Amino acid sequence: MKYFYDLGVKPTLYKYIKTPTYRRFEKTMDTIFDLTNRYANEAIARMEQNPCKEGEERSVLEKLLKIDRKIAIIMAMDMLLAGVDTTSSTLTAVLLCIAKNPEKQQKLREELLKVLPHRDQRFTTDNMKHLPYLRACIKEGMRLYPLAFGNMRATGADVALSGYRVPKGTRVFMNSNFLVHEEKFIPRPREFLPERWLRQQDAKTVGDEKLIADDLSKFIFLPFGYGPRSCVGKRIVELELEMMLANVVRHFEIEFNYPTDKAFANHFLNTPQIPLKFKFTDLNY
Ligand code: HEM
Repeated sequence: MKYFYDLGVKPTLYKYIKTPTYRRFEKTMDTIFDLTNRYANEAIARMEQNPCKEGEERSVLEKLLKIDRKIAIIMAMDMLLAGVDTTSSTLTAVLLCIAKNPEKQQKLREELLKVLPHRDQRFTTDNMKHLPYLRACIKEGMRLYPLAFGNMRATGADVALSGYRVPKGTRVFMNSNFLVHEEKFIPRPREFLPERWLRQQDAKTVGDEKLIADDLSKFIFLPFGYGPRSCVGKRIVELELEMMLANVVRHFEIEFNYPTDKAFANHFLNTPQIPLKFKFTDLNY
């Protein structure tokens, strides 16, 4: 991602000469290609040896294989490429917020303990259906530390934007994630306040304070983009983050006893820049 940012966003000569950054990018891409290609082919070989039984739901990869083997492999590689750094950065962001806000952490734990009072039980699709505070913590973590600046598109037609003529085909950056740090849209924007995303019936302890602007446009906060080219991994990542956070917070007290003001740096995507020295203490209940 860093090389992608250096070559794709910053000024560079790589189109004319192979710069050292370009060579490193090429090498990294070859490694990623070999690795993801190997995993995809291994998964396909497993599936061919043990084909899906009658009545069993096929995996996404199996469904794609039926249509086109090459597309199936490319899709599997895309998912690995787009799914690893994004998920780990976002999980880091949410964990930092949870660790630095022990009261919110405890509130989340209480919600989780109602669902899983005994430590030998497991979270399941059924018992995770109503965990509004868990979802609100994830959403608020993503707001405070967004993965990307926003979105980009090429204009499909000539448009007029705030009095400027923008010709068809212009690349437009929509920095919507800056807006979610604006007081007028999100009151107390620097604070981790998951309550702002709860529906009224779930927000029993918020009181009367406004934590979100009236009539906030849903376009202001689009961590997974929008429309036909929005993130294909959204559902997977939501499931991963919910499972991971629920399990960790249910069983461990999480601390991070270091400053977090420069926790992330932007290399096209925001990536953690500090050693992630979390302290996890087993709660034993
Ligand atoms: C928290 C983690 C993630 C975030 C915040 C995120 C965010 C995004 C965003 C903002 C876009 C661009 C959407 C647009 O232009 O409208 C995108 C595209 C994409 N994402 Fe994610 N993503 C995450 C995880 C994943 C995962 C886990 C996968 C795969 C399993 C994935 C696969 C993709 C792919 C393939 C695209 C390109 C879609 C296209 O161009 O049609 N992402 N993601």
